[in-house]
Amino acid sequence: MQKLANSLLNGRRPSVKVYGAFVCAAFLLLACGRPSPKFSQYYVQGEKLYIKHCSNCHQVDGSGLARLYPPLNDSDYMQKNFRDVMCLIRYGKSGELMINGQQFNQPMPAVPSLTDLEIAEIGTYIYNSWGHQRGIVEVKEATEILSSCVKQD
Ligand code: HEC
Repeated sequence: MQKLANSLLNGRRPSVKVYGAFVCAAFLLLACGRPSPKFSQYYVQGEKLYIKHCSNCHQVDGSGLARLYPPLNDSDYMQKNFRDVMCLIRYGKSGELMINGQQFNQPMPAVPSLTDLEIAEIGTYIYNSWGHQRGIVEVKEATEILSSCVKQD
């Protein structure tokens, strides 16, 4: 009887461990593996706004258009100039820009109607698509940056 109890217990112990490991793994997946609901909401809204306001020129896949419209899917400029990028969404950009060693020089029109929240959402979208992995752009961060932009005329 004792033997039987022992063997049952022995048999059970590892399975408790295995169960525990599953619970931990599931918890970790939920905690770290999945984006937060807020991130997902910003990303989804950002994608809609991108398609509406940006994809005409930069294309839905972010590849840009020849020498006219620079790419976003592979852009050293985006990597290095996060604050400028947030500003150019609201205020537009003109003059020469070097992107991946290639010169662009067409004016990008301003989209002054976009709110800080919408620019945070667009920022979240473009900075987490096509290999970019910056994480969420919070509205607070967007507001701080947008209030310090050097406006283009
Ligand atoms: C009418 C076409 C047009 C539209 C619409 C447009 N852009 Fe641009 N964008 C440009 C051009 C042209 C440049 C290069 C400006 C220059 O040469 O000074 C540029 C530059 C950029 C850059 C910096 C360069 C790079 O490739 O990293 C980013 C980022 C960018 N645009 C994002 C956006 C986003 C986001 C939107 C939508 C809110 C948008 N653009 C809408 C034409 C456009």
